[in-house]
Amino acid sequence: MLNDSIQYHNGALFCDSVAVTEIIAQVGTPVYIYSLKRALHNLEQIRAAFHELNPHIHYSSKANSNLAILKSLIQSGAGIDAVSAGEIHRALLAGVSAENIVFAGVGKTPNEIAYALEQKVGWFNVENIAECQYINDAITAGKHAPAQIALRFNPEVTANTHPYISTGHGGAKFGLTAEAIRYLLAQQADYPNLKFTGIHLHIGSQLHDTDATRQAVQAALELIAPYPEIRTVNIGGGLPVAYKPDEQIPSFESFAETLTPLLKGYTVLLEPGRSIIADAGMLVGTVLYVKRQAGQIFYIADVSMAELIRTPLYNAHHEIVPVVLPESLPTIPQGEGNFLVNVVGPVCESSDVLGRSVPLPEMSPGAPLAILTAGAYGMVMASNYNQRPRPPEVVVSEDGQSWDIARRRETWDDMLSAENL
Ligand code: LLP
Repeated sequence: MLNDSIQYHNGALFCDSVAVTEIIAQVGTPVYIYSLKRALHNLEQIRAAFHELNPHIHYSSKANSNLAILKSLIQSGAGIDAVSAGEIHRALLAGVSAENIVFAGVGKTPNEIAYALEQKVGWFNVENIAECQYINDAITAGKHAPAQIALRFNPEVTANTHPYISTGHGGAKFGLTAEAIRYLLAQQADYPNLKFTGIHLHIGSQLHDTDATRQAVQAALELIAPYPEIRTVNIGGGLPVAYKPDEQIPSFESFAETLTPLLKGYTVLLEPGRSIIADAGMLVGTVLYVKRQAGQIFYIADVSMAELIRTPLYNAHHEIVPVVLPESLPTIPQGEGNFLVNVVGPVCESSDVLGRSVPLPEMSPGAPLAILTAGAYGMVMASNYNQRPRPPEVVVSEDGQSWDIARRRETWDDMLSAENL
């Protein structure tokens, strides 16, 4: 979706003060472009909405772990939510202090646990009874300091979101039941190296109502009420983003208004990912061919499910707009004169569709188009399928004036570099 940073000026799409055409003239397509200004604005908006709780914001780096993005969020005071040793390593490289990392994950390996302990991460979000034993024993073996544990609670609340990104229902692999948490807390003495001082929950991503979150937080608070040493509540991520102009989503403020009265007096942690970076990013491609077949129009582009898999995987919607509006449609991308076209990629899969029935003007081969709201779960989920080099990532500076290739385009050699030749 268009916003204050991703906007048309005189019929040309801009990322802040930089014309997208200027970037692609130098870098080519496909390319991810991010507005640092927008990402930092989103971070501030979340902070402002939840100000009464003064929460620690741990950016969920799985959404977009580009170092330039991580560095600026960290410099603006964000901690990091990491789900693998690789993400911890990257976050440390980007300058976060280890105590500001929460290490989550349903299947942490012994090596990852050892690495996280060596680095002295601030919190382990624990999802398994056996994981407590592993961490406790690894601390003894490595003579590490005691670790802070937030037990991840599965509140058995069904979030109103896509089933693939819903995590808080009873059948999900995530979290611990109330019973398991009570059991662990009753056995605390068995884990002398662990400090059970937090509770964690995350019921899903792209949450469409505040009520499921309220129920989940309420259940978590009831669960920890008998344990006065648990004063930290990590309420996870999930703040939603509008992908369509008419999409109704609860605002950050409405989540904050619902949760603040419950959480006053606790130390609160948040793990937003999508809400910080999704609408700060776009993926730009170029139309290669126009095909009319079976009563349909296909714009076959140089961008595919290998670069952005959200549409094939979750049936997700991303607005697709021309980078340069035709003169007859100077201001309205979805105006009269548009056709309904399928925007597809070159990958050998019928599911390689980036948008179905997208209203677009007549575009010729060579015309660039932008897939919007693609900053989160875009590049991080990209693959080399069909031996496609992953695209470069361009970051437009916080003042909106200049841009930089934060990550170059992969080469064929990059794709071969881990293999025996
Ligand atoms: N915390 C935990 C424990 C999580 O599992 C997640 C996301 C987050 C925080 C960040 O959630 P967010 O604020 O971004 O909603 N690939 C999917 C989304 C997967 C989300 C996984 N967990 C997509 O493209 O929609």
